[in-house]
Amino acid sequence: MKYDFTTLVDRTGTGASKWNQMRTLNPDVKPGVVPLSVADMEFKHPPELIEGLKSFLDTAILGYTSPTDAYYNAVAGWMKRRHNWEIKNEWIVFTPGIVNAFYEAVSAFTQPGDNVLLMTPVYHPFYAAINKTGRNVVESALVRDENNRYDIDFEDFEQKCKDPKTKLLLLSSPHNPLCRVWTPEELTRLGRICIDNGVLVLSDEIHFDFIMPGYKHTVFATISEEFEQNVVLCTAPSKSFNLAGLQCSNIIIPNEQLRETYLTTLQSRAMGGRLNVMAFKGCELAYDQCEEWFDELLEVIYDNSQAVIAYCNEHMPKIKFTPLEATYLLWMDFRAYGLSNEELQRVLRMEAQVFMNDGAAFGEAGAGFARMNLAAPKHVLLDACERIKNAMAKYE
Ligand SMILES: Cc1ncc(COP(=O)(O)O)c(C=O)c1O
Repeated sequence: MKYDFTTLVDRTGTGASKWNQMRTLNPDVKPGVVPLSVADMEFKHPPELIEGLKSFLDTAILGYTSPTDAYYNAVAGWMKRRHNWEIKNEWIVFTPGIVNAFYEAVSAFTQPGDNVLLMTPVYHPFYAAINKTGRNVVESALVRDENNRYDIDFEDFEQKCKDPKTKLLLLSSPHNPLCRVWTPEELTRLGRICIDNGVLVLSDEIHFDFIMPGYKHTVFATISEEFEQNVVLCTAPSKSFNLAGLQCSNIIIPNEQLRETYLTTLQSRAMGGRLNVMAFKGCELAYDQCEEWFDELLEVIYDNSQAVIAYCNEHMPKIKFTPLEATYLLWMDFRAYGLSNEELQRVLRMEAQVFMNDGAAFGEAGAGFARMNLAAPKHVLLDACERIKNAMAKYE
């Protein structure tokens, strides 16, 4: 490997949210334990990014800043090269994060009392964006098959879309935490049902670069012009290059009327679609200069997933895995141990000292599951697996 994916950086005391949360959950956590929860990465950044930011700062004036041509070209170049998607500059709306983007979309495109559809279990802030803005969460539960893979129950999905109160779908594509890459056929069927029933699609594709060997991601808007006109498509460099702290998202809305409505909502909250100067520069450098680093990262994630699964299959065959088609988040089923969810999470955090996301946070069907973040040096993951093995031994 050309890049360093083995050095662990201790982020204690740096303000890293994931590390702070770990200490809140278990103030007595042992030194050396690394959290495997919140989706950010425990890898050093690509040197091209850090050096690029440093040399930018040598001459920069950090005043009010608008996107440059170089910025637009970097974003459009990434979408074209990696996702075969041609975008126009004017389609892009900037938000500091995708969580902001979907909260704003719920406000812009639905009214209090309307239904917003989720395919569950799913990324937990989706629920909050709906509940906290006075809309109703409507769930179409994904169905687990004998291989622990999840499918859409289209009959149920269509029925939920047919309810005239349902105005918006928040789609996680690829799906967090269930690791699914939706196929073009699935997206086509789903998108058709939405159009036929007047349901707008917000496609959150923040994980779209993390596609495992043998799978191919389809950007929702590339399916047809009709789909392109019925989508708010959320992208960002923040997962792929671990830039969440820079706060940069590119929300792509090809439909002019939807874009105007969205911008009006942003402006009404004094969030006129501006980013900070380092966000623009970080995104541009990442997309233009760090692609080789990203390709190596994908190999590391895949290799990590194989190592964790092999270890658990050998030592803890009761744990079942949903196939990792995408993302760097592994969905692990501990239900065969027969513990309540509360007890399982306690054992993992307090006895094993392994800090993953509680599966139940993603919806009721996630009880008995945990989500492991694979974006850490392999030895960190295998140490965690060993601690899980030791702690779970007495519950065999
Ligand atoms: C599906 C999904 N959407 C959005 C986000 C967060 O986006 P942001 O940090 O840009 O608000 C995450 C982070 O894990 C995510 O998994």
